[in-house]
Amino acid sequence: MLTLIKNIKELVQVETGQPKLRAMGKEMAQLETIKNAYLAVEDGKIKAFGPMQELGAAPIYPDREVDATGRMVFPSFCDSHTHLVYAGSREIEYCDKIRGLSYEEIARRGGGILNSAKRVQEASEQELYDDARQRLEQMIALGSGAVEIKSGYGMTVEAEMKMLRVIRRLKETSPLVIKSTLLGAHGVPMEYRGRQNEFVDMVIDKMIPQAAAEGLADFIDVFCDQGFFTVEETDRMLEAGAKYGLRPKIHANELAYSGGIQCAVRHNALSCDHLEYTGDAEIEALLGSETMPTVLPGAAFFLNMVHAPVRKMIDAGLGVAMASDCNPGSSPSPNMQLILSMACVNYRMLPEEAINAVTLNSAYAMGVSREVGTIAVGKSANFFITKPIPSYEYMPYAYGENKVERAFLAGQEQ
Ligand code: NIG
Ligand code: FE
Repeated sequence: MLTLIKNIKELVQVETGQPKLRAMGKEMAQLETIKNAYLAVEDGKIKAFGPMQELGAAPIYPDREVDATGRMVFPSFCDSHTHLVYAGSREIEYCDKIRGLSYEEIARRGGGILNSAKRVQEASEQELYDDARQRLEQMIALGSGAVEIKSGYGMTVEAEMKMLRVIRRLKETSPLVIKSTLLGAHGVPMEYRGRQNEFVDMVIDKMIPQAAAEGLADFIDVFCDQGFFTVEETDRMLEAGAKYGLRPKIHANELAYSGGIQCAVRHNALSCDHLEYTGDAEIEALLGSETMPTVLPGAAFFLNMVHAPVRKMIDAGLGVAMASDCNPGSSPSPNMQLILSMACVNYRMLPEEAINAVTLNSAYAMGVSREVGTIAVGKSANFFITKPIPSYEYMPYAYGENKVERAFLAGQEQ
C-alpha cells in the first residue's frame, strides 16, 4: 500500500542527510524543512519525500492520495515520560495546593503518590487498561506517536506487575510506539515508613526480578530526590536493574540538588528527568554523557515550581528533551502542543529548539530515535497533518488549541 501526501505547505523536521540520534546544543536550533513538499509512505514506513517539482519529474503511482494544501506535516511528538496508567483524578489535592500545602507536605500525610497507589491497587486490570486506552486516543488526536509509560502507582509487587501488564497490553493493541518502565521506587508505602531500607530491598529482591522474568519492563526508574529515595538507595536499585539489562531513566533534581543527575550519569542512564535544580556541577556531569536531560514543563507549571535552566543547558552544549509527565498529581495533561508553547514562553527556547525537544530528542530519551522522531527515509511513518496554519512557529504560538487535523501512525490514518 503506497500513500502519497501531496501539496504539503511545509514538511517539517526532515533529515536529508545521515539521520541523527539526538540534537545537541546549537544543533537544536536547526530545523530542516521542505516547502511545497510531498511525502510517500509504503508498508508503514517513510519511502520518500521532497519538493513537489521532483514528483513531476519522476511521478509515483500511489494507492491513495491525500491533498495537504495549506497544511503542514510534522513527525509525531514523542512523549518520553508519562505515568499514563492510573486510576482516578486528584483535583482535591490540587485545591489543597492552591490553599498553600506543598507537594511534599501532601505526600507526607499520605496523599499524592500514595493516594493514587491505593486506587490503582483497588482497580482491576481491565479498568486500568480502559482508562489508559482512552488517554492514548486523546494523545493521538493531539499529535503524539510514541510514548513511554511508567508503573509506580502499584507500590506492591502484585500491583506493580498489574500496571506493567496493562502497559504490555497497550503495546500489543495500540498503534503508538510504547516503551515501559518499572518505577518500583516512586514513594514509600505507609507500612514501610521508618523501614525504607526494607522497601528498597523488596524492590531489589522481588519487583525487579519478577518484572524482568516476565519481560515486562524496558527501563528502570527511581524517584531520586529529597524526601523520596537517596542517591545510595538509587545506586543499589539501578545496579540491581542493570543485572537484568534494564537501563535507567530516572526522576532527578525536581525538589532539590539531590545528586540524582550525577547518579544518572554514573549509571549511563538514557535520561534523567525533571531537573528543576540543575547547577553548574550538574551541567558539567551531563556534558559528554549519553544521558538526555529531560525537562517536564507541565509539572513545573502545574506545581508552580522553579524552572529548569534550559537556556543555560543548551548554551553549554547539551541536548534537551521535553515530555508531558502526564499523571494525576503533577501534570494531568498529555498535550505535547502545550509543552511546545511552555518551552518557548517559560524556558525561552526558540520554536526550532522546542520542536527538536519534543520529537528527535524525546525519541532518543526513550530509545527509539532510530525508528521515529523525524521525517527520514526508512523511519516509521508516524506523522500528523496540521489544520491550515501560516508557519511552524504558529504551533507553539497559538497555545491552547489543537492544531492537528489528521494523525498517521505506522502509515495508517487514525
Ligand atoms: O513525575 N515526581 C514524581 N512523580 C510524578 C508525580 C506523581 C504524582 O504526583 O502522582 C512526576 O511528577
Ligand atoms: Fe514523572
